[in-house]
Amino acid sequence: MEKVEVKDRISLLLHPRNTVIVTCCTVDGKPNAITLSWFMPLSFKPPMVAIAVSPRRYSHKLIADVGEFVVNVPSMNLFRQMWICGTKSGRSTDKIKECGFTLEKSIRVRPPSIRECIANLECRVVKTIETGDHTTFIGEVVAARVVKGLFDGVFDTKKVKHILHVGYDVFTTTSDEVLRATT
Ligand SMILES: Cc1cc2nc3c(=O)[nH]c(=O)nc-3n(C[C@H](O)[C@H](O)[C@H](O)COP(=O)(O)O)c2cc1C
Repeated sequence: MEKVEVKDRISLLLHPRNTVIVTCCTVDGKPNAITLSWFMPLSFKPPMVAIAVSPRRYSHKLIADVGEFVVNVPSMNLFRQMWICGTKSGRSTDKIKECGFTLEKSIRVRPPSIRECIANLECRVVKTIETGDHTTFIGEVVAARVVKGLFDGVFDTKKVKHILHVGYDVFTTTSDEVLRATT
């Protein structure tokens, strides 16, 4: 296999990546939503996740000010909403309204959860790290919910179609094929 060197946007070599919609809010409670594909699980016990948010995003200030966020997991039926939350800014657009999202009170954090998403992970920021042109917010998951019947320790990928970001405006999704690993 002949290889070519990549010099620009090298992180896209690590895509496709699952895509989430993170909710956050101002100190006086006004909500916003931002699409992210740069996030990762960090720990089972305590449950922890990291999100990488550019300081240019309106959501960056909200998460830094409030110290809480919710990772909402969309499936393919929310593709249009995912794109709105990833291309418009809460500085000038009420994305929640434009997406037609139903917000519900989170169990343990101030930012609301998106009812239409299949899972909601409520996070409290425990560490903030400058990582190049993004800020990594490390959150401890203080509560999590999932739609009944879709998750039995793992997602049922026959029922759930995740949104996978390939790069720019290109996306794909998970397939129906289930492979069981054996030794
Ligand atoms: C599929 C997708 C993935 C994205 N992933 C990230 C990300 O991981 N980090 C980030 O800072 N911005 C990411 N963005 C860009 C933000 O979602 C976008 O700039 C958004 O409009 C910012 O909204 P805000 O200004 O209301 O915070 C992504 C956009 C899309 C469409």
